[in-house]
Amino acid sequence: MGRDKKYHEPIDASFDEVLTAIGTENRPDIIVPTARPFVKWVGGKRSILPELIKRMPDSYDAYHEPFMGGGALYFALQPKEAYLSDINFHLVITYQAVRNDVERLITLLKGHERNHSKEYYGRQRERLAKEKDPTKLASVFIYINKTCFNGLYRVNKSGGYNVPMGDYKNPAILDADNLRACSTLLKSANVTQHSFKQAEIYKDDFYYLDPPYHETYSGYSGDGFGDAEHIALAEFCHKIHKKGGFFMLSNSDTPFVRELYKGYTIETVSASRFVSCKSHQRGKENELIIRNYK
Ligand SMILES: C[S@@+](CC[C@H](N)C(=O)[O-])C[C@H]1O[C@@H](n2cnc3c(N)ncnc32)[C@H](O)[C@@H]1O
Repeated sequence: MGRDKKYHEPIDASFDEVLTAIGTENRPDIIVPTARPFVKWVGGKRSILPELIKRMPDSYDAYHEPFMGGGALYFALQPKEAYLSDINFHLVITYQAVRNDVERLITLLKGHERNHSKEYYGRQRERLAKEKDPTKLASVFIYINKTCFNGLYRVNKSGGYNVPMGDYKNPAILDADNLRACSTLLKSANVTQHSFKQAEIYKDDFYYLDPPYHETYSGYSGDGFGDAEHIALAEFCHKIHKKGGFFMLSNSDTPFVRELYKGYTIETVSASRFVSCKSHQRGKENELIIRNYK
């Protein structure tokens, strides 16, 4: 494919040290070391980032994240060539607006910041299903993400977003510097709305796969993510392996997942997790990192 190789040394450091090292020393070509996830996302990978980064392959061509969510690993690595996708339409429209129309998005978010109230939140929540202008829709999505209960995205059977407002005194609705930094970084990313099944597979490319975990929260879209999806995902991983690509997958530690990936490198890490509105389902739990390379 004629693409430059990129190298990732194993790093043993905190999240901030990792970002600084990656942004300023190892990748002098990147001028946006401050870009961080701009949405709060259930299942976001900030807490285990160092564990993921130290398990990256030594070199690979393009970076793929077919369950991008908040994109914690993508923003930490800031790869030159990236293919990001997710099934969540609102999320993808928002990434595209951050990349293509960031100044207008910032202006719209200033308006949401001024108008924020419980009643306003209720009206914006309804707009999510109706707004046709992509940048306006993205501004509503970010506003709701920052003010709703725990950054949760949950839709009912007819696709309506139904999360109540969170109880925050001063929610951080707008971080203009970060949005601009994300916009610059995303200029070199391909961002698409589709299922992981539609992602292209290439030799020497790297795939980070972070699906809704087996037997936990899967309400990111109306369709859910059950055993059949996990089996299809394992088949997708086998294809990457056969093609000569690299994959790293996060999932919960269940006998079903271990069986699906037997033969690959399976390691356990401890992560803090939030999986539902019920407090007994928060806390530290073991989860798996599965790779097809050493
Ligand atoms: C655990 S989250 C990813 C979190 C992300 N790694 C982060 O750092 O924020 C899982 C994501 O998979 C997406 N998803 C669910 N089913 C999908 C499918 N069939 N194909 C692609 N994406 C899907 C959800 O919309 C959600 O954003």
